[in-house]
Amino acid sequence: MYVCVCAGVTDRMIEAAVRDGTRRMKDIVETFQLGKTCATCVEMAQDIMQQSINNLDLAYDLMSQEPAQLPAYENNLQMSA
Ligand code: FES
Repeated sequence: MYVCVCAGVTDRMIEAAVRDGTRRMKDIVETFQLGKTCATCVEMAQDIMQQSINNLDLAYDLMSQEPAQLPAYENNLQMSA
């Protein structure tokens, strides 16, 4: 979806920039020249950038957790006997 029609910037471009390490709106604006004509896109671009950051943080949190502990196989046998 286009976020900035004036500069041809999509939500996927912003998401990719966040994945590549961008964390400041100033950098999004400078990289894509977003918001420099009518500026109606800036708030939506900020929302998409923040959501992308939150999604990445959640993914990193999930990757750092231990896998769920499954009951030992022997315990399963005893429980079903
Ligand atoms: S829509 Fe982004 S500057 Fe106009």
